[in-house]
Amino acid sequence: MRTRVGIIGGGPAGLLLARLLHLEGIDCVVLEARTRAYAEQRQRAGMLEQGTVEALRACGAGARLDAEGLVHHGIELRFDRTRHHIDFPSLAGRTVTIYAQTEIVKDLIALQLADGPPLLFEAEAYEIEKPDSGSPRILFRHEGREQTLECDWVVGADGFHGISRPAIPAQRTYGRDYPYSWLGILADVPPSCEELIYARGQDGFALHSMRSPAVSRLYLQVPNGTDPADWPDELIWDTLDARFATDDGWQLARGPITAKSVTPMRSYLTEPMRYGRLLLAGDSAHIVPPTGAKGLNLAISDVRLLGRAFAHLERTGSEQLLDSYSQLCLERVWQVTRFSFDMTTMLHAQPGGGAFEERLQHARLRRIAESPHAAAELAALYTGLPLGS
Ligand code: FAD
Ligand code: DHB
Repeated sequence: MRTRVGIIGGGPAGLLLARLLHLEGIDCVVLEARTRAYAEQRQRAGMLEQGTVEALRACGAGARLDAEGLVHHGIELRFDRTRHHIDFPSLAGRTVTIYAQTEIVKDLIALQLADGPPLLFEAEAYEIEKPDSGSPRILFRHEGREQTLECDWVVGADGFHGISRPAIPAQRTYGRDYPYSWLGILADVPPSCEELIYARGQDGFALHSMRSPAVSRLYLQVPNGTDPADWPDELIWDTLDARFATDDGWQLARGPITAKSVTPMRSYLTEPMRYGRLLLAGDSAHIVPPTGAKGLNLAISDVRLLGRAFAHLERTGSEQLLDSYSQLCLERVWQVTRFSFDMTTMLHAQPGGGAFEERLQHARLRRIAESPHAAAELAALYTGLPLGS
């Protein structure tokens, strides 16, 4: 098999890139290791920056997003048993939208299978040959056979545990593991809030998000190594109650919990995001802790830049934008890494942390609640930095 751009990974990054290339008339093939059902059900992100929404809309994946996505005008920061609204339109001139990653993946898969380039499920890439040559090859297993995809370019959109990042020699990596994780639940109960609540409770962090007017998504800080089986439903609701508690009588509605999972928290970056004709995009190149909801949005902005760079190559024959891709992405990625780190360390209880750290967190939260300048900085990063030139 032969193609212009071989894409490893059918997550949001790989699927959106395939769509962007298809719209430019650029031939590509997507290899996805998992089944379609698995890819469509993997519970993950839910908050989309305005630029992400616009990109999905522009490529024809906006119909259900516009009908079912929930537009939010701000978030609530909750600490000291008090609520503080951060208003995005007045502070940043933008909004965000709640629409689950599972739904984006379903929409993009449906588009691609309808009229797009080939998308192979259960096609696991195991080697990238000669990424530094003019004709790299992806070796993969599909339907019990070992096959080869001959490419002009390879895009590694295969997430954090994929094969693409390790195929780049002499990278520089940067990272940090955090001393806490998130226990995430889905519950069949209408959300108890109109906008997302980021709470610094007495003994740790909690986040109230949602998936629809009938389904709530909630997260709470737990120690690393936590087994969700050790958290009966009652204990989860009691802990959430304690962390969201206010003095104004606000109540958290409870309902049947339909999913529970634990996510560790990590910051990770690799530089550069390109080696020869292999380019990385999304989680294969960088991971941020989920506080502030940036991972999916970063993956989407990477492929928007990459789509632009391939379109430029196709129209002009110039590799100039492909040459600047890694640097342009990384400037943005570092800004977002900084934001995600700040949000995470501001809102979580530091195990073994002393009174000094706690008072500093409190001072940062108060500053955002009281200073429009500090709040505007949060709003600008939360709703999304411009894509860059
Ligand atoms: P992935 O989604 O990981 O996709 C990679 C794909 O490659 C997968 O389908 C995988 O099966 C496939 N693959 C891997 N190896 C191979 C191989 N060898 N051959 C072929 N295919 C392969 N981000 C946000 O922006 N907002 C949020 O609200 C948010 N919340 C989150 C909450 C949680 C609990 C978690 C865990 C993450 C959250 N994120 C959030 C992060 C977000 O989900 C990821 O950043 C996003 O999935 C990255 O997309 P991707 O396409 O780069 O990678
Ligand atoms: C969601 C996840 C996040 O990490 C976040 O900051 C906001 C929302 C979510 O899954 O809905």
